[in-house]
Amino acid sequence: MRTQVGIVGAGPAGLLLSHLLHREGIESIIIEDRTRAYIEARIRAGVMEHWVAELVDEIGMGARMRSEGLRHDGIEISFAGQRRRIDLNALTGGKSIMVYGQQEFVKDFVAARLAAGTPIHFEVTDVSIHDVDSDGPSIRFTDRDGAPQEIVCDVIAGCDGFHGICRPAIPDQVVFERVYPFAWLGILAAAAPSSDELIYASHDNGFALHSMRSPQLTRLYLQVAPDEDINEWPDDRVWVELQTRLTQDGKWSLNEGEVLQKGITPMRSFVCETMRHGRLFLAGDAAHIVPPTGAKGMNLAAADVLVLARALARFYRSGATDALDAYPATCLARIWKAQRFSWWMTSMLHIFPEQDPFARRIQLAEIDFTTGNEAGARALAENYVGLPFDDGPVGA
Ligand code: FAD
Ligand code: DHB
Repeated sequence: MRTQVGIVGAGPAGLLLSHLLHREGIESIIIEDRTRAYIEARIRAGVMEHWVAELVDEIGMGARMRSEGLRHDGIEISFAGQRRRIDLNALTGGKSIMVYGQQEFVKDFVAARLAAGTPIHFEVTDVSIHDVDSDGPSIRFTDRDGAPQEIVCDVIAGCDGFHGICRPAIPDQVVFERVYPFAWLGILAAAAPSSDELIYASHDNGFALHSMRSPQLTRLYLQVAPDEDINEWPDDRVWVELQTRLTQDGKWSLNEGEVLQKGITPMRSFVCETMRHGRLFLAGDAAHIVPPTGAKGMNLAAADVLVLARALARFYRSGATDALDAYPATCLARIWKAQRFSWWMTSMLHIFPEQDPFARRIQLAEIDFTTGNEAGARALAENYVGLPFDDGPVGA
């Protein structure tokens, strides 16, 4: 097989990149090691930044997101027996967030790519990449029928997530990492959301988050120990703890329902600054991980591939490599700001092991300042809805 851009991974990064390239007349082939059903059901991110929702509209993919997604103009922060609202809309000159499940985004983009004739090879195995230092790198894999395959391309986009094979292929990486001493236990429940907006709660027992996927589905998270055994958390215990941490003012209670899905996610900050090696470009979770508290992971993946698509469009139009050369630096400026925000939200809202009362008082003062002061609230709001992305058309 021969194509212009070989894409490893059909997550949000790989699918959006392929779509953006297609709009520029650039061909791609995607390979994915899971089944289509698996990636379309994998529950992960839920919050899209303002500019991501606008981009999705601009590229003709917004119909289902606009009808089924939930636009939110604010979020709430609960602490010390009270709840305060951050008015995202008023604080950012009219911006909002879109609550639309990552799996819905994936469904929309898989359907669009296949309809446009872009090959997506699902259930591939033995994936390896070759000759990234040359002008003709290649991706080798075994297809789902057991046949060996090779894609020869101009450029490889490593969109294969944190555990993929592309990042390990880069020698001499510059890497930064921080692992947090806690994890999130997440559930999806067949219950109507108990609030119109997301609630981030900092409680002495630990952090909790109320989110949602639809008017009938609530998504909830609890801070737990990093090595927590999920069997120690039967549904009853999860509900008791959620009620305790989220119902701090006594005036509200959480709707409960059947638990449809339950899982534990570790928390880390990770950046591989070596996002490019020869003709290999890393994008999304393949290059960086944020702790989920700021809801930035999927949005950063979208930002990387928008930069990459524009740089590739310039390269194919004029042969100029300046934008491709600048790709890591352009992305890293945004990535480190999102890392800082995610680290800050995580540190402010979670209980650390052996945290002393002084440290807790400092956290509570910081939440009080942030939520009770316009400058503090605006700093949170601007980061939460997504820092400005220049608004030029794709490929500009
Ligand atoms: P991925 O979505 O990981 O996609 C990579 C793809 O590559 C996958 O489909 C994988 O199967 C495939 N793959 C891997 N290895 C290979 C291989 N060798 N060959 C072929 N294919 C391969 N982010 C937010 O912004 N907000 C949130 O609320 C949020 N919540 C989260 C909750 C959970 C439980 C988790 C795990 C993550 C969450 N994130 C959240 C992070 C977000 O899901 C990721 O940042 C996002 O999925 C990154 O997209 P990606 O395309 O870079 O990587
Ligand atoms: C969701 C996840 C997050 O990490 C977050 O900060 C907000 C919402 C969610 O899954 O809905």
